[in-house]
Amino acid sequence: MVTVTPNDSTLGASITGLDLSKPMGDADFAAVLRALGRYGVLCFPGQFLESAALRDFSARFGSIQTSITGKFQDKDVPEVGFLSNIVENGVALGINDAGQDWHTDMSYRDTMGFVNVLNAFKVPKRNGTPLGNTMFANMHAAYDELDPALKTKLAGLTATHDFNKFWDKMVSRPGSIRPPLTAEQRAKRPPSVHPIFLTHPITGRQVLYCNPGYAVRINELDEAESDRILDILFAHQLEDRFLHTHVWTEGDVLIWDNIGTLHNAIPDYLPHEHRLMKRCQVMADQVFQTDFIQRALAA
Ligand code: SIN
Repeated sequence: MVTVTPNDSTLGASITGLDLSKPMGDADFAAVLRALGRYGVLCFPGQFLESAALRDFSARFGSIQTSITGKFQDKDVPEVGFLSNIVENGVALGINDAGQDWHTDMSYRDTMGFVNVLNAFKVPKRNGTPLGNTMFANMHAAYDELDPALKTKLAGLTATHDFNKFWDKMVSRPGSIRPPLTAEQRAKRPPSVHPIFLTHPITGRQVLYCNPGYAVRINELDEAESDRILDILFAHQLEDRFLHTHVWTEGDVLIWDNIGTLHNAIPDYLPHEHRLMKRCQVMADQVFQTDFIQRALAA
């Protein structure tokens, strides 16, 4: 039986009673979706999944996006990518800087990201303390607490999100092993436009859908005003009261709702302090379909 234990924080719950290496029944999936809407970040401890099982679990939430470079994927299961700072015989096992700044996955695509799924195989530690935490920010709460005048001003407005903003920032950091994108790769990731306030498909509540990693412009405002308001939104959404930190344990499967949260992977570990995660990135191609949530929650 699925047990949901909420964290003492603005986000997060622990889910026990499920073996994710086995197919998940519809009633269990309904319980997970409900918890995802309510808590935003869910940890399933004690799971070390084969790539195919990680893919199959992730695919319950929607289609999986594969990497644009085709690198650092499981060769047999390309939907599963590797995040790691481990280098073996001169070969990097994974991307070493994924998500290392505040962002929302795939807000740069017309079909935005829904769920990210990470399975921790190696967690760096120093003197017994885990490093490489992942931080989250609660965008239901950020919307609720936004200045009412700003809510009125921004109602119905849209923002442009650009993949290049985050990629180029990462490439420019010392030690980056990301290749600069080719013109062909850039063409595959054109900027995308989304409302600044979205109705969350599970909760039916409004969320602030804007993030420092990818949002570049509020389209209906002139550039100076857009820059000014984006700075206000970025500062507001990262206030301490909206933040939650996940401290990893090996075997955690962590899933999070990208529509209602932002996240940031903290790079506070050294090259010999090894981190290895498997990851699937699931798109919101099904969750916005009218009956997906209704059908799933009815189980
Ligand atoms: C990500 O943003 O997908 C990676 C997060 C992490 O490695 O903690």
